[in-house]
Amino acid sequence: MNELVFVGHSFQIRSVTFTNGEHVLSPSVNSKLRSLILADQAMGLTMAPKFSQLDLDAHSVPTTSSVSMPAEQIKSAPVEPPSTTRTHEISNEQNVSERISNLNAARVTVQSVNKTTAGANAHAMQWGMTRALPEILQERINALNEIRTRHDATCPLCCSASNYTNTVLGEGSANAELVFIGEAPGDNEDAIGKPFQGDSGVKLDEMIKAMGLSREQVFLTNVLKTRPQHNQTPTQDQVDQCASFLTEQLLVIRPKVIVPMGGPAAKQLLRKDEGISLLRGKWGVWMPPQGCLVAPIPVMPTFHPAYLLRNYTMETRAFMWSDMKLAMTKLTAK
Ligand code: URA
Repeated sequence: MNELVFVGHSFQIRSVTFTNGEHVLSPSVNSKLRSLILADQAMGLTMAPKFSQLDLDAHSVPTTSSVSMPAEQIKSAPVEPPSTTRTHEISNEQNVSERISNLNAARVTVQSVNKTTAGANAHAMQWGMTRALPEILQERINALNEIRTRHDATCPLCCSASNYTNTVLGEGSANAELVFIGEAPGDNEDAIGKPFQGDSGVKLDEMIKAMGLSREQVFLTNVLKTRPQHNQTPTQDQVDQCASFLTEQLLVIRPKVIVPMGGPAAKQLLRKDEGISLLRGKWGVWMPPQGCLVAPIPVMPTFHPAYLLRNYTMETRAFMWSDMKLAMTKLTAK
């Protein structure tokens, strides 16, 4: 007999009982908890250990989720001003205008720098330097489209590759609070120019749905924007050439949480060398380039859905689902 009973809580739960996988929800149970429970079942985890106190308290951030950052980074991190962001950006732009009499000429210079390999990393710095961060949805959509166009015309890696049909920049909401990042497009994605098609896309969609979200509400992208030759794992050199476009996408969307899936994405975001088994399930932080006026963003690394499909064990599923629950906790925290 497997029984779990919650009685009374800050979630206003009256009673939640699991008996041999069955559950009874009181009408007043918080809808968030309901979706967590249903999601657990969707992942096939009804008999696995369920919620901890941390999962249940939507208003407290779990201790495992505190963002750890080296002291020197804290000092130098460009932290977004809490309420005066827009003013700050405008005055930043005004300052630049005062110092550079012809701002358009400066923009042209930046664009021409971008045309070189060395400049591939420089254009990430455009946000907050010579132009304000896009704020409203349409501005963000336009900015993402502009990144796509510029990527397709200038990415040193993708422009020199010939073994692909479509570039795959990303899909989803430009206002997404949650961004998933994979490794690189495969054959299915290459064929239609959208990320996470095929079996791992189906599995990822299931996970997103289990989190109470949809593909349209989140943003999906990859470290590399074109299919690598023979679908190989990206080399560091390839990542270095293409990943500044990912940086720019993140600067435009500025999600609350980033979920890199698999080693290449996690290592790139966290600038760490450990494998995904060591990185997953622990909060890290993505540090935006200095000068961008974007606050560091919490990162919850997890396994790649393709890995999950290859290792479809209770343990892997439980690990991934617990990572997703941590991400959700951060999304719902005030
Ligand atoms: N694997 C990835 O890493 N990304 C995709 O878009 C598809 C499969």
